[in-house]
Amino acid sequence: MHLRKPIIAANWKMHKTGGEVEEFFTTLLPQIKDLKPQVWVAPSATALRLAVKAVHGSYVLIGAQNIYFEEKGAFTGEISAPQVADCGAKFVIIGHSERRRLFGENNPDIKKKINSAASNGLIPLLCIGETLEERKNHQTEHVLKNQLVSVLDEHFEGVIAYEPVWAIGTGQSATSAMIEEAHGVCKEILKKLCRKGDQIPVLYGGSVTPETTHALSRTKYVDGALVGGASLEAKSFLSIIRGFTS
Ligand code: PGA
Repeated sequence: MHLRKPIIAANWKMHKTGGEVEEFFTTLLPQIKDLKPQVWVAPSATALRLAVKAVHGSYVLIGAQNIYFEEKGAFTGEISAPQVADCGAKFVIIGHSERRRLFGENNPDIKKKINSAASNGLIPLLCIGETLEERKNHQTEHVLKNQLVSVLDEHFEGVIAYEPVWAIGTGQSATSAMIEEAHGVCKEILKKLCRKGDQIPVLYGGSVTPETTHALSRTKYVDGALVGGASLEAKSFLSIIRGFTS
């Protein structure tokens, strides 16, 4: 069904100390040796270098959860794309709904972050998605379109994650029909907007669990998953990877 290998990405948010990161990979890596999936993991910035070292020689890519759009300067507490790339990160999550909602990140910021990531060799993983209110008001398509059109240009080469805000961390995953519709909308827009639009993977995120993986992996237009809570334990993350690649 999939033309390319699905991407299963973990977003660990503000979880895990160094020892816990090492323990996770010690359990996970021997189990995914023969699967050769695309497994991406975004630990906290404090564990980036350690995670890169831990996955050395495997297929796992390590990425950051956020960057600031400036490359250097007086921006206390921020981390830039060159710094993240220097740690060995290969991708960066941009525009996660928690960043938009809790830290006031807006589309102009997100556009600059995507550009900074790309010019420093990092793959941008852009998160988009509607709130429950927007869905109830039949604005989902409009919101997704706006979130894509206002930050992408024809040169964009990265990954999109459709994450309905109401499905994140709530245990309430979107249905296959909702996901297919939203991903279809994204794919149409990407094709029109970006030169390589038909090659841009669109992942689903929002309460993905081992139990929801079977249906998700068979849903049209789904190229993988972005997993929060269920990626924290190696065992459940492994079931999700297996569910997508078997
Ligand atoms: P969740 O988070 O899987 O815990 O819902 C997904 C995300 O925020 O990327």
